[in-house]
Amino acid sequence: MAEHTFLRGPKDWWRQAVVYQIYPRSYADNNGDGIGDLKGITSRVPYLKELGVDAVWLSPFYPSELADGGYDVADYRNIDPRIGTLEEFDEMLEALHAVGIRVFVDVVPNHSSDQHEWFQAALKAPKGSPERDRYIFRDGKGEHGEIRPSELCSHFGPTAWTRITEPDGTPGQWYMHLFAKEQPDFNWDNQEVRDDFIKTARFWSDRGVDGFRIDVAHALVKNLKDGHLPERLSFDLSVMKNDGTDDLFDRDEVHEIYKSWRQVYNEYDPPRVAVAEAWVHANRRAAYASEEGLGQSFSFDLAFEPWNAKKFHNTIQYNLDASAKTGSSNTWVFSNHDVIRHATRFGLDAESLSNLPKWFRSADRESKINKELGLARARAATMLIFALPGSTYLYQGEELGLHEPLNIPSEQMQDPQWFRSEGSISRDGCRVPMPWTSTGSSFGFGPGGAHLPQPEWFKDVNVEKQDGVAGSTLELYRTALMLRKGLVCAEKLTWNKHWFNSNVLDFTRPNGWRSVTNFGNKPIKLPKGKVLLSSGPINANSIPGNTTVWLQS
Ligand code: NOJ
Ligand code: CA
Repeated sequence: MAEHTFLRGPKDWWRQAVVYQIYPRSYADNNGDGIGDLKGITSRVPYLKELGVDAVWLSPFYPSELADGGYDVADYRNIDPRIGTLEEFDEMLEALHAVGIRVFVDVVPNHSSDQHEWFQAALKAPKGSPERDRYIFRDGKGEHGEIRPSELCSHFGPTAWTRITEPDGTPGQWYMHLFAKEQPDFNWDNQEVRDDFIKTARFWSDRGVDGFRIDVAHALVKNLKDGHLPERLSFDLSVMKNDGTDDLFDRDEVHEIYKSWRQVYNEYDPPRVAVAEAWVHANRRAAYASEEGLGQSFSFDLAFEPWNAKKFHNTIQYNLDASAKTGSSNTWVFSNHDVIRHATRFGLDAESLSNLPKWFRSADRESKINKELGLARARAATMLIFALPGSTYLYQGEELGLHEPLNIPSEQMQDPQWFRSEGSISRDGCRVPMPWTSTGSSFGFGPGGAHLPQPEWFKDVNVEKQDGVAGSTLELYRTALMLRKGLVCAEKLTWNKHWFNSNVLDFTRPNGWRSVTNFGNKPIKLPKGKVLLSSGPINANSIPGNTTVWLQS
């Protein structure tokens, strides 16, 4: 067998796995309090099995004050009581494992919640104490320390520094937070911090968790040596160094941490797997994806690509080449809890797509979406990535072809990005609770309401409406995933060239599984071979625009 084959053996299950992301607070609410919970997820195991996914990844379910949708963790080895208990977690895990679905949990190591017991202890402890050393506390500048220690911005707002009040009531030191002020950054030069995350890795691995998604994996180690403090007013990738010596991100030293985690993961049988969320220069992803490191690293390249065959081709080939070098496998992603749903993105005109905040701010944003076209392209795009070598990460609701709900009143928004960007963009739309049925107080999400308002059009786009309906997006996903299980083969492809039409992406896998996508609007000739599935209606001899067809040649 070739080196990277479709091994579905105990160690390689992740290489071509389809991983379905669940945002627990918005998936299924068992007790009717409007917040999704673990029992809700357990109740949907039959649905997930029928969908045909290999694994689920759960966004954070830990105790949290929800300053950032749960990415502000108050206790890494526990469950938010609003979401469930550890016993309920074990039940959920068992139910998923019983039907062959593996489970990833989210690890958030760059920062904790300000409610974490360590941060609370740091606030009470004096300057220079071991408690403060677990975070990044510094004196302010100026006569009374009233000026922030450096000009460093945060992802969600103007500054990455917040001043505390000392236990004696006087204005005190400042702490660094690359995200919201409720998310203080850990000091990864502190051994206790390192040891605690090893403990967390063992805690969840011992419970039987199969994999970990590592949040902002590139940010942990900062250049803080000899009193140095990073200064930065933009986190644009173009200002990040790509040689491992950047002050803030992707420093070479971060990989020592992941090597130590890998040793722990490898103590288990099968070894636990991990995927890095690392927003780094494309050439720097390899280290995160290495065998000694986390093993896999997200490529979000396709999530930013417009509907264009040439751009898709270049991105796909770049990522295939990169994974061939590292021996890792690819991670194809269109949607997650941080981005506008891809059915909506693909329905936007080029101008709106090139400046999403501007589009989002415009009063007529909804009317700028061609919903039908966006959905046709989303379906075609999904079949395309399902046919590629590597793994695919799906986001809850995309299997229904959901568009982004865009009418959440500002007073009901929850996303810190919305508040701190003065209404430029919000991630709440893609986090609106799942519609399971056409009726009911929350479209089957639960017996009560929903913590974010669901749009009225959910009555037409939901699981009940699509279940068993030929041609529905749900049935398309189910059929595609069922076929894919039988078709997955060696991690290679051969491009079939279409010299006279730059709107086509056509490739064949080693076992003759062929995928043809027509990115254009005009029909193209249907190649010879047995048609297995198409993302939309096709004709006897042609593939209409915005459509993918799978053939067996
Ligand atoms: C990336 C997560 O995906 C996002 O939702 C979160 O806001 C930040 N990391 C901070 O944890
Ligand atoms: Ca609930």
